[in-house]
Amino acid sequence: MAQTSQAKAQTMQAVALDKFGGPEALKIQNLPIPQIEAQEVLIRLEAAGVGAWDPYEREGGFVEIVGTKPTFPYVLGTDGAGTIAAVGKDVKRLKEGDRVYAAALANPKGGFYAQYAAVNADNASLIPGDLTIEQAAVLPTDALTALTGLGKVLGLKSGDSLMVYGASGGIGHLALQLAKRLGADVFAIASGDDGVQLAKKLGADRAVDGRGDDVLKEAKEFAPNGIDAALVTAGGEGTVKALSAIRKGGRIAYPHGVMPEPTAPDDVAIEAYDGEISPAFIDRLNALIDSGPFEVHVDRTFRLEDASKAHQALTEHHLGKIALRIE
Ligand SMILES: NC(=O)c1ccc[n+]([C@@H]2O[C@H](COP(=O)([O-])OP(=O)(O)OC[C@H]3O[C@@H](n4cnc5c(N)ncnc54)[C@H](OP(=O)(O)O)[C@@H]3O)[C@@H](O)[C@H]2O)c1
Repeated sequence: MAQTSQAKAQTMQAVALDKFGGPEALKIQNLPIPQIEAQEVLIRLEAAGVGAWDPYEREGGFVEIVGTKPTFPYVLGTDGAGTIAAVGKDVKRLKEGDRVYAAALANPKGGFYAQYAAVNADNASLIPGDLTIEQAAVLPTDALTALTGLGKVLGLKSGDSLMVYGASGGIGHLALQLAKRLGADVFAIASGDDGVQLAKKLGADRAVDGRGDDVLKEAKEFAPNGIDAALVTAGGEGTVKALSAIRKGGRIAYPHGVMPEPTAPDDVAIEAYDGEISPAFIDRLNALIDSGPFEVHVDRTFRLEDASKAHQALTEHHLGKIALRIE
């Protein structure tokens, strides 16, 4: 196995939990650098994504979902980006020194709020386009979740009309751009004036404020016979109302975690799903990103040791994603 001098160091800084709890449970600690197996890569991280679901994981919410007993110290973080520091002997696609991004949910080797992460090589990829390291770090989980919803669950085709509910959020602002690349007409329901501006800038055919505008009136003007499909990333009364604009025979997808869970009007199919992290999906995502200018909106960046402030920021209105910068 190849090892850089950095990887030969024994310990790293990480933000880890000694027990599940509130933001105050996030503590900077010195931990062993994870060891890699034959099919894994060790990434020296420069940035990590802060997921909308991280506070839920911090409070222990993933334990039942993942089905394995958690071990402490527990390092949070589902995605990140940096440089390959070491590769396992069976890894062919990546090599030491490659600039990569990666995603892994509840990784037993530890998450991405750390200087190093060990992940299966299938969960990592060269960084597409001209993304900055922060943009690459926050991208994969939400972008792959967007693409799974659009491609696999909704089967979006060129010419389809699509509602993106929560279009200025993490998944939403990426889904909107990916849907345009797949040839859809996008009705974006964003949050606030700034969210509407972002959605318009990213190419939405129509963008409305889900927290202020008359969404149904706008939807009727956009598609008088109803919208073909919806990707939903936020729940609530407004969601149920907006979904009445989906045509009979239409379809709705939402990732597990959206609460309250959306319900569909009569004669509309609805499915909850999880984002797929696989080489095939990552290649497809990279090709779509490489096909033209693509914006990953990083609203705020915090230092690793300020992870608790980043969690606080998640509870406040923001656009796109929040990142951690790791020195
Ligand atoms: N199962 C999976 O594989 C998977 C993967 C990734 C994410 N998820 C889940 O998917 C959900 C969305 O993730 P995310 O990263 O996109 O979260 P996010 O960044 O918080 O996005 C949700 C967006 O919805 C907006 N919103 C809320 N109410 C609205 C309204 N009435 N009108 C318009 N916009 C509204 C929010 O804006 P404001 O709050 O700023 O107003 C926010 O921008 C989360 O529950 C997450 O846990 C699941």
